Amino acid sequence: VVLVLDFGGQYNQLIARRVREARVYSEMISYKTPVEEIRSRHPKGLIFSGGPASVRQEGAPQVDPRIYQLGIPILGICYGMQLMAVQLGGKVEAPRLREYGRTEIEIVRESGLWQGLGGVRQCWMSHGDAVVRLPEGFETAAKTGHTPVAAMFDQTRSFYGVQFHPEVRHTPDGQRILEQFLYDVCGCSGDWTMESFIEAQVSEIRKRVGKRKVLCALSGGVDSSVAAVLVHRAVGEQLTCVFVDHGFMRKNEAESVKKVFSQKFRLNLIFIDARQRFLDKVGGVSDPEAKRKAIGHEFIRLFEDEARKLGQVDFLVQGTLYPDIVESGTDTAETIKSHHNVGGLPEDMEFELIEPLRLLFKDEVRKVGLSLGLPEEVVWRQPFPGPGLAIRILGEVTEEKLEIVREADAVILEEITGAGLYREVWQSFAVLPSVHSVGVMGDGRTYAYPIVLRAVTSEDAMTADWARLPYELLERISTRIVNEVSGVNRVVYDITTKPPGTIEWE
Ligand code: XMP
Repeated sequence: VVLVLDFGGQYNQLIARRVREARVYSEMISYKTPVEEIRSRHPKGLIFSGGPASVRQEGAPQVDPRIYQLGIPILGICYGMQLMAVQLGGKVEAPRLREYGRTEIEIVRESGLWQGLGGVRQCWMSHGDAVVRLPEGFETAAKTGHTPVAAMFDQTRSFYGVQFHPEVRHTPDGQRILEQFLYDVCGCSGDWTMESFIEAQVSEIRKRVGKRKVLCALSGGVDSSVAAVLVHRAVGEQLTCVFVDHGFMRKNEAESVKKVFSQKFRLNLIFIDARQRFLDKVGGVSDPEAKRKAIGHEFIRLFEDEARKLGQVDFLVQGTLYPDIVESGTDTAETIKSHHNVGGLPEDMEFELIEPLRLLFKDEVRKVGLSLGLPEEVVWRQPFPGPGLAIRILGEVTEEKLEIVREADAVILEEITGAGLYREVWQSFAVLPSVHSVGVMGDGRTYAYPIVLRAVTSEDAMTADWARLPYELLERISTRIVNEVSGVNRVVYDITTKPPGTIEWE
């Protein structure tokens, strides 16, 4: 393993991921992690990340200096390099000119990380401070117009520092630099794969759970599906999954969950058909927040009832991903998010959490899913909100409206998939507003619902752009929905970005 010590920089989440891309297992840990704990994990290398602080500030984050005596190679990035410089006796100052963005860098010592990378290169800089005096034993490896020490190294102790960010794509040689650190300096073999990740998780979960019982709320989405199958591989029958069909699922979705998890994977699946119950509770509610709360509340009640029937359950599986944790800050986020994922858990039930995907990014989770044998349609499923179609029907939810939005959604899915765009767009779906408009079909007047087509591109759902779908595709979707979905006489396309719009309409 190569451990990344987190100093809070904006690109930090990328570092561990780039290391894994180099087929070396990596995890990010707090910079406060005690030296003894770091040593006990026998890392082959350490990476100090960037961070927003200045080493010149009082109380700036530091590592225990004993870390430099462990005999483990260290790569310091940006803040990490400055910290290393100061802690080892060098000096950092704020230069007259700062460097942000794409910067030219001149390699002056073509060795170590820089093997085969002589001359002038591009890199991505983002710093206010710079090293002005090297610590003893260090040499300069690279410089820029404004930064005399843009990279430094001490070959004897295997300490390396780079002022720029090798983890971002704007540094074209970044991956190679990281790999030369991992392979040549740390001696990593680069043979780690998703299979080794799965094996490691399986044996860890097995050890932790022992003979006790594990519960999982399965939604059919990528994260909970992959987490469930992974935990099932570890503890088999001790895992029980609960799937609540609230009736707001997409076409054939509930059946597909049953088929994949009960039949293919033989998971212990409790399938609760609660369609009528949810419709009764939610039917008359038209305020979006009240609707969400009613669904969330009912979900918890059902889940709780099932959990109680199982007797003593000690663990709960959650499909929390790394970005979920990062969003609210690494030190405190775990508890915040663990409740959020299943839509809020019963307060008085105590579980230990199993979050086998907490170190991974979405695309890495997909790789794990494929390695575990999950079908592509599950692994590549677009995100779907917990309250489902109920929040895509504006205002009151009725059986008739559910039918309309579900059928329209199926057409959109089919056409987007047929056009080869399903993976490219982040989400694509139908929204049913509660208005009617006039149209003409055959020789008659119609007065029916419009369907709003919403299709967005996004990296993380925090911001989104409307997808530039080809006109021909828009036309096919419109024609098919009006022809095939009764009760609809018009299709409109939502061309609002997020912000100011949100992805969903409620
Ligand atoms: P908005 O509409 O806020 O949605 O732009 C951002 C992303 O979150 C999804 N979403 C939800 N996911 N439970 C979920 O698990 C929910 O209650 C929920 N509401 C919205 C939405 O589909 C989009 O991907």
